[in-house]
Amino acid sequence: MAMLIRNASEILTMKRGLSILKNASVLVENGKIRKVGQIKSDKARNVVDANGCVVCPGLVDSHTHLVYGGSREDEFAMRVTGVKYEKIAKAGGGIASTVRMTHQASEDILYKSAMKRLKNLVKHGTTTVEIKSGYGLSPAEEIKTLRVIKRLKKDSELDIVPTYLVHTIPDQMKRRDYIDLVIEEIIPKVARAKLADFCDIFCDKIAFTRRESEKVLLSAKKYGFGLKIHADQFADIHGAYLAAKLKCASADHLEYSTKGAIRAMKKAGVVPTLLPGATLFLQFKKKPNVRTYKKLYCHPALASDYNPGSCMIYSMPKIIALACIVYGMHVEDALLGATKYGARALCLFNRIGSIETGKQADFVIFNVDNYKKIPYYFGEDIVRYTIKKGRIIYGKNS
Ligand code: NIG
Ligand code: FE
Repeated sequence: MAMLIRNASEILTMKRGLSILKNASVLVENGKIRKVGQIKSDKARNVVDANGCVVCPGLVDSHTHLVYGGSREDEFAMRVTGVKYEKIAKAGGGIASTVRMTHQASEDILYKSAMKRLKNLVKHGTTTVEIKSGYGLSPAEEIKTLRVIKRLKKDSELDIVPTYLVHTIPDQMKRRDYIDLVIEEIIPKVARAKLADFCDIFCDKIAFTRRESEKVLLSAKKYGFGLKIHADQFADIHGAYLAAKLKCASADHLEYSTKGAIRAMKKAGVVPTLLPGATLFLQFKKKPNVRTYKKLYCHPALASDYNPGSCMIYSMPKIIALACIVYGMHVEDALLGATKYGARALCLFNRIGSIETGKQADFVIFNVDNYKKIPYYFGEDIVRYTIKKGRIIYGKNS
């Protein structure tokens, strides 16, 4: 059935900048956008009244780790008293503790808890989400997580993009042996079973070196994976330069990336992906310099990084607000980062990320009358409807 989203205060089309249409409507047919602008109402249609509301492309969360077992509130409690994330990790906590708890959980348990989380994402306007493995480490356990993601993809109304993440070295294994295992066994198995679109690696001083990361990503490329990289979060080890060299789809975190690295990413078409929730949650003083991005016309995506260790925030409207508050990002750039550039980071901009004729009818309708109120109403849940492929998946059409 056709749907008419009628008379919005603002429609953020995201064509060039926000490209706002005022007092405008969107016509949807067969799950796609048919027309945007002044459209006459027709009684036969399913009408969504957007009077006094802002209509935005469905939010794209291009970086999450939302399939995991257990929780890490004890580490959180330690960190707020000043104990560093790196120190906790070295003592066997951090990622390794979630690895242990994920191993203990069955596929069904992981599926159920992740599905619950996905339902919460929908309430906050997310319509497309990337989900990484990375708490499995062994071939069987990584495949277990990726199979859970595959089930979620089948059952959820969201678009889900699966990524195989090479996260850390398992206990009692030599680094070289693990890299060999990843290259010789895990990557080929994941590729054969078609369980992931992207391969990602944690390239940082507390994880894999630049050389190890390059080796892994080059092998993933041969198997047809798109490439992503966790880069320069704890130190500048030139992870963003590596992303540029390998033409990764995105490089994520980037607290320590320099102006030269930003220039290199821009030149190579890498989408820098900033994760203000993690910067805040880990109480980092070092932040990406959003002014440099702006000066170089290099447009960052924004994502939640939702995971049990470094960011328990899954609400993209909150992430948009944090990008403004924590990084000093302009409101317009933050909104573009959570839609258009998030879609670019997942190589999906041909289908989602803006409100244009022919694109998928994915929207979030905010209960505010202008876009600046989206981050400004930080403490409120302002999502009125989430619409996926022309169907209301959250909110009531009264
Ligand atoms: O993106 N930086 C590496 N990995 C995750 C944290 C994972 C964890 O602490 O469990 C991140 O922040
Ligand atoms: Fe991450």
